[in-house]
Amino acid sequence: MTAASSAVSAPVIDVRTVTKSYGRGEAAVHALRGIELSIEAGEYVAVMGSSGSGKSTLMNVLGCLDVPTSGRYLLDGIDVGRLDEHQLALVRNRRIGFVFQSFNLIPRTSALANVALPLSYAGVRSRERRRRALAALDLVGLADRVDHAPNELSGGQQQRVALARALVTAPALLLADEPTGNLDSHSTAEVLAILDRLHAAGRTIVIITHEDDVAARAQRVLRLVDGLVVGDDRRAAEPPVSLEGAHR
Ligand SMILES: Nc1ncnc2c1ncn2[C@@H]1O[C@H](COP(=O)(O)OP(=O)(O)OP(=O)(O)O)[C@@H](O)[C@H]1O
Ligand SMILES: [Mg+2]
Repeated sequence: MTAASSAVSAPVIDVRTVTKSYGRGEAAVHALRGIELSIEAGEYVAVMGSSGSGKSTLMNVLGCLDVPTSGRYLLDGIDVGRLDEHQLALVRNRRIGFVFQSFNLIPRTSALANVALPLSYAGVRSRERRRRALAALDLVGLADRVDHAPNELSGGQQQRVALARALVTAPALLLADEPTGNLDSHSTAEVLAILDRLHAAGRTIVIITHEDDVAARAQRVLRLVDGLVVGDDRRAAEPPVSLEGAHR
């Protein structure tokens, strides 16, 4: 598990015939029924599908929050099926940033402390944690709200704090499950603009959404039906993003 594995051109996500069933026998629910999926570094992918089609189950597998019933999943070249709980926790902490519909921030705790938390798990020293957390909050436009607790922030601001927290460890993969599902149109636009900037800066993003206009921002749209990928549409290649003038 070294950084070298991501330096070669292995896809960030390589899913081979992954199934996930809940329960057994007659009562079993086959939430994923043989997913094949490869996502390269720098791709921005939307996952769509009706309720119950397996989107969150797929996200949980991709995020190493849950393990497949069968099949193989390589994240950044690492076969996560071979890792124990402790190693999986490290992979989640170091390589994946999560954003959820319901923000999942720690109440009565400042934005700064919320964002810095993944760094304490990673053993980063306090001064460096503060520096990186401030930089992440600045990136999402919240430099002036770092001391505010979640209940002192709007929904859109809370989701931007959650984005900063997801990014603070510089993960290989950003996973977002309906990140705009609880937001008004103005806050949705702000969050999507941040995702656009992250994509332009080369981040790998997978976003689950019900909304066509949200999915339209991605380069690639996967459609799930009953635990299978039935559509995989890529938009015409965009012109390469030049580093000059692409910051905003
Ligand atoms: N922990 C669980 N135990 C049993 N069945 C589950 C569990 N989690 C999900 N399921 C079932 O697996 C199937 C896929 O669920 P999943 O949550 O992945 O759907 P989804 O596409 O995210 O739906 P939604 O759009 O409503 O969030 C559903 O039939 C669901 O009832
Ligand atoms: Mg879901």
